[in-house]
Amino acid sequence: MASRPSTTAARRTSELSALGAAILDALPISLYVTDRRLRIVAWNSLREQGPIGKPRERVLGRHLRHVVPPRGYKVTLPVIRKVLEQGIPHEHFTETQDGSRLFHARRLPVRQHGKVSHVLSWFEDITERRAMEMRLIASDRLAYLGQLVAGVAHEVSNPLAGISGCAEVLASLAQKAPKAADRKEARSFQQLIRSEVARCERIVRSLLDAARPDPGTRADLRSTVGTALRLLERHPAFARVRVVSRMPKGLVARVDPDSLKQVVMALASNAARAMPTGGTLTLRGHRQRGQVVLDVMDTGPGVPVSLRSRIFEPYFTTHPESGTGLGLAIARSLVRGRGGDLVYRPRGRPGGSFRVILRAAGGEAL
Ligand SMILES: Nc1ncnc2c1ncn2[C@@H]1O[C@H](COP(=O)(O)OP(=O)(O)OP(=O)(O)O)[C@@H](O)[C@H]1O
Ligand SMILES: [Mg+2]
Repeated sequence: MASRPSTTAARRTSELSALGAAILDALPISLYVTDRRLRIVAWNSLREQGPIGKPRERVLGRHLRHVVPPRGYKVTLPVIRKVLEQGIPHEHFTETQDGSRLFHARRLPVRQHGKVSHVLSWFEDITERRAMEMRLIASDRLAYLGQLVAGVAHEVSNPLAGISGCAEVLASLAQKAPKAADRKEARSFQQLIRSEVARCERIVRSLLDAARPDPGTRADLRSTVGTALRLLERHPAFARVRVVSRMPKGLVARVDPDSLKQVVMALASNAARAMPTGGTLTLRGHRQRGQVVLDVMDTGPGVPVSLRSRIFEPYFTTHPESGTGLGLAIARSLVRGRGGDLVYRPRGRPGGSFRVILRAAGGEAL
């Protein structure tokens, strides 16, 4: 009879410890617990998975030294010792060896009877969260850049109007010059100033328009891509690049031709830069499930896997000496602002491969 309460207490204790172990297994965090002698006393199910995962029965009761790789042990040992001695949590960020996953690592003191008895090592995979934070920072920067550009464009229109007025006055003064040759030269300069001012005004207008997408406009892919390529083909960077354009007739997208031209030029100039010793740039348009798709492919080395999540970030460039790193960021925001998307789309074989996805506008004549 006397043994009853202690049996109940023992049952409760074992129920509680089973619940504790089940809770550790339910956590979306990889963790283990070491005692003061650095023996593993808990190893949750996430630590059993993945390329470096180990089955629980092979690690429980063993010294940490025999469980984690030697390099990791060398770094971990002083940290765990410090947490055991001082009872202060420790945290840092760490990456997998191939750099593909990022973890928030915490070492937390566990206290029993007022003394640190164990250390809980906790590893939270924050790869996706960090990528989202980076995307937010990128879109913030772009929004700021957009406002800046629109502001500059707006302010530049006033001095432009002033310059063009001054040019008219100068021209009428020059007409009074005694020599015919001087009058002729003045006229030609007046023409030059007029045409350059008109060009600046067009640029300013297009910058302001870019900030305000017009859903009503449409572009025929064959003619718009054709114009962009004609402009590029004369550029020295394309001297060794063979351009193949496969654009079916009647492919019309909901995008203004100027923006589409800018996107094509950004993608094509990147492709040319990726093929300095020559290669082929292929542009292929087609319709797919109510959308217009434009693939831009090159025979260069392609974008390394480790950089693919970063190339659309504003200011990200692997050519700091010549590039701004804004080409893809602006191209993507132009396309997204018009209800489409721009993505890197690796193929089975090597080479850069980008896909522009646009809303289809039907095949009506433009
Ligand atoms: N076709 C491609 N092949 C290989 N890498 C590419 C390709 N296109 C883009 N990249 C990579 O993406 C990065 C970002 O491209 P983005 O166009 O935004 O900037 P950039 O070309 O470096 O500079 P800018 O466009 O201002 O000249 C490039 O620096 C390059 O590393
Ligand atoms: Mg570029």
